[in-house]
Formats: sequence, structure tokens, C-alpha cells
Amino acid sequence: MNTRLITLTVVLLAVPLAAQADAVSGLQAEYKTQGSGEFTAAAGKALWNKKFVDSKSGKQRYCGSCHTDDLRKQGKHVRTGKVIKPMAPSVNPERLTNIKKIKKWLLRNCKWTMGRECTAQEKGDLLAFLKTL
Ligand code: HEC
Repeated sequence: MNTRLITLTVVLLAVPLAAQADAVSGLQAEYKTQGSGEFTAAAGKALWNKKFVDSKSGKQRYCGSCHTDDLRKQGKHVRTGKVIKPMAPSVNPERLTNIKKIKKWLLRNCKWTMGRECTAQEKGDLLAFLKTL
């Protein structure tokens, strides 16, 4: 094998492993390529706590509707009543480790809560906030 081929092999193997090891950085890098600026935990926290009104039911919705205000505690799905494990990675180490899962739920939960998808900037800010918990 020549050195270029070895380098290429190493890079191809390392990329998915690194992304898995730090899903948040991987996603944030992706969001930057979509035009986002710097991400801040403060902006993420503000959005997490922001109250929206559902146009159909007139009811208030926000991220805490299901995850509660204390992200270190267990949440409860506002519609189904199903228990949701704590969101804070400090008490639930499984959180923010799986890119596919994060993407799926950010899409679904932004739509349900805000009535639209989150922008790349908003998603990066939310992750910056959640990873501090
Ligand atoms: C209608 C209930 C509900 C609301 C409101 C809600 N979520 Fe969730 N969320 C869930 C459920 C259910 C899961 C998947 C089950 C689990 O991970 O415990 C989840 C999972 C997640 C995950 C996956 C985290 C991981 O790595 O495991 C993220 C990120 C997330 N939610 C962010 C948000 C954000 C941001 C908002 C507000 C825009 C929000 N959620 C509002 C119900 C909700």
C-alpha cells in the first residue's frame, strides 16, 4: 500500500468514529455548512423556554411541555403520558450520543412545539445548551 492509500483509509475509518464520539460537534459542524454562525448556550436556553401557541388548539407549547423545566428529572409526554428519561447528559449519559436520534427528535419536536422546523442556527444553539446540563 502506498502512503496516500493508507492515509485515505485512516481518514475514512476515523470520520464516523469521531462523529459518534462527539455527536454534538459533528452536528454543529454540519449546521455551520448550512450558514449558521457561532452557537451559544444562552440562545439555546432562551429557545428551550420560549412559549409558543398552537394555532389549532390555542394551547401553550414549549420544549418543557414534555421534558419539564428541570432537565435533570424525568419528563412526561404531554399527550401520551409516557415517561421520558431525563434530558441532561450529566444524569443520562445516553443523551446526545446518537446523531440519527438527535436529528429525528429535533425535527419532530420543533415541528410539534413551534409549528415549523428549527433552523440550523436554532438546532446548534439548542445542542450547545443541552450539552451543558
Ligand atoms: C410532545 C412531547 C415533546 C416535546 C414538546 C418536546 N419533546 Fe423532545 N422528545 C420527546 C420524546 C418522546 C423523545 C424521545 C424519547 C426519549 O428520548 O426519551 C424526545 C427526545 C428529544 C431529543 C433526543 C435527545 C437524545 O439524544 O436522546 C432531543 C434533542 C429533544 N427531544 C429536544 C427537544 C426540543 C429542543 C424541544 C422543543 C423544541 C422538545 N424536545 C420538545 C418528546 C417531546
